[in-house]
Amino acid sequence: MKRCHHLCRLLPLWLSLVILSFSHSSYGDNVTYDHRALVINGVRRVLISGSIHYPRSTPEMWPDLIQKAKDGGLDVVETYVFWNLHEPVQGQYDFEGRKDIVKFVKTVAEAGLYVHLRIGPYVCAEWNYGGFPLWLHFIPGIKFRTDNEPFKTEMQRFTAKIVDMMKQENLYASQGGPIILSQIENEYGNIDSAYGAAAQRYIQWSASMALSLDTGVPWVMCQQSDAPDPIINTCNGFYCDQFSPNSNNKPKMWTENWSGWFLSFGGSAPYRPPQDLAFAVARFFQRGGTFQNYYMYQGGTNFGRTTGGPFIATSYDYDAPIDEYGLLNQPKWGHLRDLHKVIKKCEPALIATDPAYTSLGQNLEAHVYKTSSGACAAFLANINTQDATVKFNGKTYQLPGWSVSILPDCKNVVYNTAQINSQETTSEMRYLSSISEGTNQPLSRLSSSGWSYIKEPVGISKADAFTRKGLVEQINTTADASDYLWYSISFNITMGEPWLISGEQTLLHVESLGHVLRAFVNGYYIGGAMGSADSTKISLSKLIILDKGKNTIDLLSATVGLQNYGAFFDLSGAGVTGPVTLSANGVTFDLSPYVWTYQIGLKGEDMSLFDDSDDSASLWLSDSTLPTNVPLVWYKTQFQAPAGNDPVAIDFTGMGKGEAWINGQSIGRFWPTYTAPLSGCSDSCNYKGAYSSSKCLKKCGKPSQQLYHVPRSFLKEGANTMVLFEEEGGDPTKISFATRHTGSLCAHVSEMHPAPVNFEVYPELAVSKQKLGPMVHVTCPGPDQLINEVKFASFGTPQGTCGSYSHGKCSSTNALSVVQQACVGMNSCSVPVSTKAFGDPCRGVTKSLAIEATCSS
Ligand code: GAL
Repeated sequence: MKRCHHLCRLLPLWLSLVILSFSHSSYGDNVTYDHRALVINGVRRVLISGSIHYPRSTPEMWPDLIQKAKDGGLDVVETYVFWNLHEPVQGQYDFEGRKDIVKFVKTVAEAGLYVHLRIGPYVCAEWNYGGFPLWLHFIPGIKFRTDNEPFKTEMQRFTAKIVDMMKQENLYASQGGPIILSQIENEYGNIDSAYGAAAQRYIQWSASMALSLDTGVPWVMCQQSDAPDPIINTCNGFYCDQFSPNSNNKPKMWTENWSGWFLSFGGSAPYRPPQDLAFAVARFFQRGGTFQNYYMYQGGTNFGRTTGGPFIATSYDYDAPIDEYGLLNQPKWGHLRDLHKVIKKCEPALIATDPAYTSLGQNLEAHVYKTSSGACAAFLANINTQDATVKFNGKTYQLPGWSVSILPDCKNVVYNTAQINSQETTSEMRYLSSISEGTNQPLSRLSSSGWSYIKEPVGISKADAFTRKGLVEQINTTADASDYLWYSISFNITMGEPWLISGEQTLLHVESLGHVLRAFVNGYYIGGAMGSADSTKISLSKLIILDKGKNTIDLLSATVGLQNYGAFFDLSGAGVTGPVTLSANGVTFDLSPYVWTYQIGLKGEDMSLFDDSDDSASLWLSDSTLPTNVPLVWYKTQFQAPAGNDPVAIDFTGMGKGEAWINGQSIGRFWPTYTAPLSGCSDSCNYKGAYSSSKCLKKCGKPSQQLYHVPRSFLKEGANTMVLFEEEGGDPTKISFATRHTGSLCAHVSEMHPAPVNFEVYPELAVSKQKLGPMVHVTCPGPDQLINEVKFASFGTPQGTCGSYSHGKCSSTNALSVVQQACVGMNSCSVPVSTKAFGDPCRGVTKSLAIEATCSS
């Protein structure tokens, strides 16, 4: 779209559609920027972006996720590039399956969206080791993320490799592809002071290295206030309205608006109310922003051993607008979709000028974008938590506390961030009772007769074990080839030493850097301990009884995701640091400096017991004594995939801690026994006031993660194989399969709400506004689904939340029948929130309509 067709003067709407759908033309797009915005082919753009990380879902899921992102009003999909996935061994690349980044970028392009490619290659992202491959750590003389030749050489090589790949496929906008933006480094500014003067040189080098790759599109650095020109420094955080770039020639861009927060094993589940997220977005555009990215738009799953750490959970749902399973997280998705529509209505004014600010009172702000050609858009914000009434341009406006009203014509409020018109849906898991292969056992409770097992040996069992004097650091030893490192020591009790007495109680004490420790004495499990996301350190003290003669202490140390954040994060160690002591009769003996035997990983890992192959078939035992609630057991069973296409999860209740594989593919670590703290949660979190990652928490006292996503594409028709490694002790016959569904559709809209944005046609705003008032609108998630029941409807002063609405003091008598009439048998329906439809059950009182409905399955 180099030149303007003559039609564009006659049909601006038509042209903007054409620009959107054919922007990735073979001629290439010219992407630049100025003070206001990114400029694509000479036109400043307001861009809504969202993060979807390709390896956190499957290629089979990508098209649907991207379509949902597009339907949600996104223009851009952002992803990091995960170096350790693509180059697991130095010089050996892997771009297959979930790692097929070219396919992902092309899938985004096919949907007509742009891509922001954040190469990093340090990415943080709650990803193992921040995305760095472990081999990098072992390059002699290397120092990460600073002015260090070995590091810079590798960083440049990988960055260039990715850029070249994209270029070869013509994926940069400058070549007609979708990539309009790239990022180098990631939030280095947050921690660069720890790297001294070299930090500055490293950032200068990163900038010129990136620019030398000649992508033809702008580069950004996030949280880097000294980003060298022409690199754009961008903001990350829960709010970025107060941010300004380091030059007046750069636009105000927000690369990470945290839509929720990540989950840790042992932590409660964070969520961010949609009203506050919408408030943050609106405030950003109110105060001059033009590019905003949700981190995450769909979080997905940390499959395999990809989670960062320590203790990042397998689910990376993030309370994002699309949930881990690919279903809409409503009303968040819908409330933001409405917001995006309104912001796009304001685009002509937003790109034309800087906002003019006027105070409407304390913490009451108006920002107006007004052009000479008559476009005008206004944002009115109430940053107090109490509601307010303001005067703006001679008119009176009600501003709910902690909200922004958007007026795309400077007169009519089309959207308010605190007033949700979108439907809310509840998600439910349906536990299954179909038949598991061959055994005729219910799948929901796989019977023990369906399981076979192999016991993982305690202590040293592999030929490649080795000895060292003293205790070794774990990550330097395993190079993260496995979560596990065995520390083993044997000694004889012969002379009745005072600190080594057979048959009497001796205190074993172990100090470890974490993340998890399990101790065995003479082959018996005597107990374990774990650190937490806040502190990885472990102190284990157990009374043990030693034997006369030879005694062996085996310590199994396990990592749960390697550190991904902070200055020198790459050097934070793990494993048994010592001292490891034995005490009795007031005397303490330190075993630490003696010779220990080490084994990296498990025997079962070496034998690939998780693989679907038959190599190990004869080793699996299926006698009637299935061992349960004992540590270190591999379990295997066969099952039939749950019927249908609904997303699948396994409920691991009954198991302890370990890893699970379906047909050879790891669905990640499971750990249902690590529960969230008892306190700190709230049933409903007040969205008013500044949000932080610990403000709104769920699941206190419950397992941090009980359900684990099994992507449909991991399953096949007929017999599927599941292998579990259980480290702590569990009962696999207790685990269940479930499928994920949308439960109820709910909506609760007040007479004070603006009309739904999707019904209102700009620029005939005033006319349609008179016709249309607030409305309740609900849609079944599937195109073939019909509303089969209206469970609740009340017009008046209904109370409660979806699933537990109740009538208030005031309620019209015909609400249920009016809503049934409009909705039952329909795929979607709209009901006006007005006394015209329902009569007036209480004059002079502000009324609302609440409905709950269900859809056929
Ligand atoms: C940011 C970082 C992201 C992610 C996020 C928290 O600091 O850039 O990669 O880690 O925090 O989810």
